[in-house]
Amino acid sequence: MNQQIPINFQHSISLTIKREDLNHPFISGNKLRKLKYNLLQAKAENKETLLTFGGAFSNHIAAVAYAGKEQGFKTVGIIRGDELFDKTEENPTLRFAQENGMKFEFVSREDYRLKSENQFIEKLKKKFGDFYLIPEGGTNELAVKGCEEILTEEGSVFDYVCCAVGTGGTISGLINSALPNQKILGFPALKGDFLTDEIRIFAKKDNWNLISDYHFGGYGKVNLELIEFINTFFEKTKVPLDPIYTGKMVFGVIDLINKNYFPAHSKILLIHTGGLQGIDGMNIKLKQKKLPILKKQ
Ligand SMILES: Cc1ncc(COP(=O)(O)O)c(C=O)c1O
Repeated sequence: MNQQIPINFQHSISLTIKREDLNHPFISGNKLRKLKYNLLQAKAENKETLLTFGGAFSNHIAAVAYAGKEQGFKTVGIIRGDELFDKTEENPTLRFAQENGMKFEFVSREDYRLKSENQFIEKLKKKFGDFYLIPEGGTNELAVKGCEEILTEEGSVFDYVCCAVGTGGTISGLINSALPNQKILGFPALKGDFLTDEIRIFAKKDNWNLISDYHFGGYGKVNLELIEFINTFFEKTKVPLDPIYTGKMVFGVIDLINKNYFPAHSKILLIHTGGLQGIDGMNIKLKQKKLPILKKQ
């Protein structure tokens, strides 16, 4: 569903948001797109278990747990941070995943870095038996194929398409399916310049740019300005944004509009990639830091 944003900008710039977050209550936004062909492949290979990786508040972990349950797979989540092993109950994302049948293996941050290495995978096979492996963030070729379906005919009127970037799968799909005259802008949710190379693995065109000024200090980092922005945006538009990905992207786009980055009369499409399940976890942290919490309704 495309939703017009009722905010007036100078130079008649129009802002529309594609509510991918409304596509599914629990496999939200880009997760539904990324998992679609992977689940079909797992079935075609007669796999009984899905195994994947993620951090403590990972949208991907929550989505895989639910999708696995829905489609009859066992699920295993390799979770970054061995200190979390007895914290499942107090972490809304892990609790949700566990309630939906996911088994966890908590690993240290050092071991987590080895997650793509054969030796590490073989060890996991010994422990959990055969499985269909879905990489961290769900990004692989089949995920990109799914994300190529986000932009449809309806999207052809837009000059710019903007999305948040984590592992680069979502933007790669948008790049591949965009028209030649459209520009795709990605807003990394984390620090570092490795993402360009990751995206080049999957993206078949050059019609894109990464705008790296809106990560707010790094992955999962927020400040008062961002929290207040997300809450005000929600009050004005009734569109909830998550603090890790979509909130930073929309903040960036509006800041760039105010700095006249976009030519007059530009039509901008924002992709809402979901992630709202992360708000509860973030609110626990915000309360601890005595910051205002994020409103969801
Ligand atoms: C809500 C949300 N938006 C955007 C992204 C970024 O997507 P990608 O990892 O494909 O770059 C993620 C992470 O996967 C996410 O959970």
